[in-house]
Amino acid sequence: MNKLIVSLLLTVGISGIAHAAGDATAGQAKAAVCGACHGPDGNSMAPNFPKLAGQGERYLTKQLHDIKSGKRTVLEMTGLLTNLSDQDLADIAAYFAKQNGSVGAADPKIVARGEALFRGGDLAKGLPACTGCHSPNGVGNPAAGFPHLGGQHAQYVAKQLTDFRKEEGGRTNDGDAKTMQTIAKKLSDEDIAAVSSYIQGLH
Ligand code: HEC
Ligand code: HEC
Repeated sequence: MNKLIVSLLLTVGISGIAHAAGDATAGQAKAAVCGACHGPDGNSMAPNFPKLAGQGERYLTKQLHDIKSGKRTVLEMTGLLTNLSDQDLADIAAYFAKQNGSVGAADPKIVARGEALFRGGDLAKGLPACTGCHSPNGVGNPAAGFPHLGGQHAQYVAKQLTDFRKEEGGRTNDGDAKTMQTIAKKLSDEDIAAVSSYIQGLH
């Protein structure tokens, strides 16, 4: 009897948290509508539209659920995900995760400050190094859901850091630990410009 209850609970618990596995081949067709802004292979040309190519599948899936539910506001994508199922979102995430991300260039005038911040943080401000979670070459930690940053458009990165820093109306979907909100509040405008430029050229 007890064993039955335990196994029932386990089944319910596991199916409750399990995510549908994504199928990249099926995802390609479903991602066609996204290409107009993010690029057909996820390498967007416009600096305010994030590159999705090579981004971690777990991170992408989380963002898609957050955007769909309104936890993260992306006005440009209003209504676009409404009719997509969990399986559709998983397939699209798998498709973009498989593409190769392109890399841009850093501004040589501010790259040194950006590199120092990214690799070493700032002890005086209690700012941790970005490498701890996003890795030294910027690939992140796909299994943990820490996003790939290397090669991302500097303009998009700077907007995210500014949004994480806002007290209201910013980006609040970074989970219960509020890691990025806490970190971004310690960054000045100059810090954000420098580290965003460094990230754009990082690979
Ligand atoms: C009209 C343009 C547009 C279209 C079409 C569009 N997006 Fe977006 N998307 C954006 C913008 C702009 C952002 C970033 C908003 C911000 O600055 O926070 C974004 C952000 C995202 C992010 C978060 C990226 C990150 O690094 O956190 C994901 C994932 C995403 N879009 C997936 C999709 C998918 C999948 C589709 C197709 C079903 C799609 N988008 C269609 C404009 C678009
Ligand atoms: C303790 C771990 C940790 C550290 C340290 C950290 N980050 Fe993050 N970062 C995260 C996580 C987790 C997310 C994803 C939040 C979510 O799931 O929405 C993230 C998201 C981001 C994003 C948004 C990416 C996108 O595609 O929209 C940017 C930009 C970013 N971090 C930059 C930085 C910079 C710059 C630093 C160093 C100053 C840094 N992070 C330090 C964990 C960390």
